[in-house]
Amino acid sequence: MLDIHSHILPAVDDGARNAEETARLLSQMKNQGVTAVVATPHFYPLGSVLDDFLELRATAAKEIAELCRESGITLFLGAEVLYYGGIGNSEDVKRLAFGGKYMLLELLGLKKIDDKVTRDISALKYDLGITPIIAHVERYARYSGYKKLLPLFENGDALCQINASFFTSKHETRAVKKLVSRELVSFIGSDCHSSVNRPVTLDKGISALRAISARQTRIIIQNGENLKEELMSFEK
Ligand SMILES: [Fe+2]
Repeated sequence: MLDIHSHILPAVDDGARNAEETARLLSQMKNQGVTAVVATPHFYPLGSVLDDFLELRATAAKEIAELCRESGITLFLGAEVLYYGGIGNSEDVKRLAFGGKYMLLELLGLKKIDDKVTRDISALKYDLGITPIIAHVERYARYSGYKKLLPLFENGDALCQINASFFTSKHETRAVKKLVSRELVSFIGSDCHSSVNRPVTLDKGISALRAISARQTRIIIQNGENLKEELMSFEK
């Protein structure tokens, strides 16, 4: 299984504080059948220097390379990039893509999802050649204009990621049920930050999802496997 959303790199963002914490998160992943993980530390484009971020990320990845090898989990380097107006025209963000063309994009903090936002997301795909994976879509279900995201998922302009913890929480939103019943969810991620407070709960999340739709669950797991293969051959 591939975990496409994680904050396992030590001391890069509000995720793992140190390598010991990374080791605990990797052990949770291993126990839940994860064989590959994309590290997606937060990148805030308006408050950070891209070169500094990439250097910090590379150093942290080197620090945990041995831990990953020991746990048999293949590490890929990505980022969880916070949306800003005009991101679709920013050549720089290509450097945050993983597998040469995927980017985890979060929309938190937006007052409204309007045409400008959806145009930007489409521009990432069609102007910059980056496939945006929208992080934890469940969190935007109550945003004004949320429904404008749906055509993006239907057309494949963007891919939809839901956090595993959502499926085991008591928050039931009709919006996510609709995504699942229409099989518009491409990936499930742990979005783990800490082995205690925000741990890896992919196993429980997947079981809960399977009870809603076995078919959507199979698709999600297969998408993860396919992406893992793609990322591995990209890195060769
Ligand atoms: Fe995250």
